[in-house]
Amino acid sequence: PRLEEMYNSFDFETVARSVLKSDAWAYYSSGSDDEITMRENHSAFHRIWFRPRVMVNVKDVDTSTEMLGSRTSLPLYITATALGKLGHPEGEVVLTKACKTRDIIQMIPTLASCSFDEIVNAAGPNQAQWLQLYVNSNRQVSEKFVRHAESRGMKGLFITVDAPQLGHREKDMRQKYSQEDPDEISRNSTEVVRDQGAARAISNFIDPSLCWDDIAWFKSITNMPILIKGVQTAQDAVLAAKYGCKGIVLSNHGGRQLDFAPSAIEILAEVMDALKRENLDKGFEVYIDGGIRRGSDIFKAIALGAKGVGIGRPFLYAMSSYGVEGVEKLLDLFQSEFEMVMRFMGVTKISDITADMVDIRNIKDH
Ligand code: FNR
Repeated sequence: PRLEEMYNSFDFETVARSVLKSDAWAYYSSGSDDEITMRENHSAFHRIWFRPRVMVNVKDVDTSTEMLGSRTSLPLYITATALGKLGHPEGEVVLTKACKTRDIIQMIPTLASCSFDEIVNAAGPNQAQWLQLYVNSNRQVSEKFVRHAESRGMKGLFITVDAPQLGHREKDMRQKYSQEDPDEISRNSTEVVRDQGAARAISNFIDPSLCWDDIAWFKSITNMPILIKGVQTAQDAVLAAKYGCKGIVLSNHGGRQLDFAPSAIEILAEVMDALKRENLDKGFEVYIDGGIRRGSDIFKAIALGAKGVGIGRPFLYAMSSYGVEGVEKLLDLFQSEFEMVMRFMGVTKISDITADMVDIRNIKDH
């Protein structure tokens, strides 16, 4: 289909499924075990309903906001996903170029197919980018990477903590991984096992001994704000704040790690309550990712206290199907959907969006 016939994020998934090679489709689309968490991530949004206000002048709507001090046209960022070249020969720089024209922040993955510098070099002079870090068992490798990232102007360091080992993504494991140049993907790794799918081939170096006490060390090697990606409870959100992190991403890794982990939107309200109760919410930025597919999903997350949302697979699908123009088109769709929801809800700017605009009685404990 032509790009003009793409009406929403799901359309890109349909196209990607038909154009991607089977191993790429398996790696991008898989969740862990029975994929219950993966499916729940989006359907959890269906339990939240709106309380729209009318008779507000909504002629001019401003969707722009700030995340970690950087301006952005929308409260969303393209989250880190590994192995961009499985989907498009140019890999992650495709996302970078679209972010540049649309004023959107990209989180660069440790396990990108392009080199870190290629991705940074593809960005415009004032284009904000963040770094996603998988912590290496060899801390010197991580230290060098973090210091380099800071010198290249990264505005935030997101440490992924929900992957002390890789989840069983069985669709992916059934594929024998051989696609990419092994030298490229094993840059940070010591050993590459290639007989159990893409994820396993690239992730051996991740340190399962990572713990809260390591935050002090990260703070000693960088001035970038540190955020923890993969928090899944209110208790850990509170701990992240107490250990001096700038924020968190509530995330279950797109349902690719612990099956039956809760979806981020389901726990967002209780996380915000816990932070407020402990007086830790000021200046602490809470992001969520997983299953965000509509402008209305973004609105619900902002209403419940998120500073912004991360979106993964839909951008991989747009990139794989249509390259830079596909990613730009998907960003434009999110822009127009979100703007429409704001208008229907009777708000004209992000700071007007409040918790009483959503009905969360169908969320447990509320
Ligand atoms: C991911 N995710 C991820 N996260 C991370 O911290 N480092 C990584 O290398 C990857 N790689 C990765 C690959 C693929 C193919 C997917 C789909 C996901 C998780 C990602 O950042 C995010 O948490 C989820 O993708 C969000 O869910 P949605 O938007 O894909 O539903």
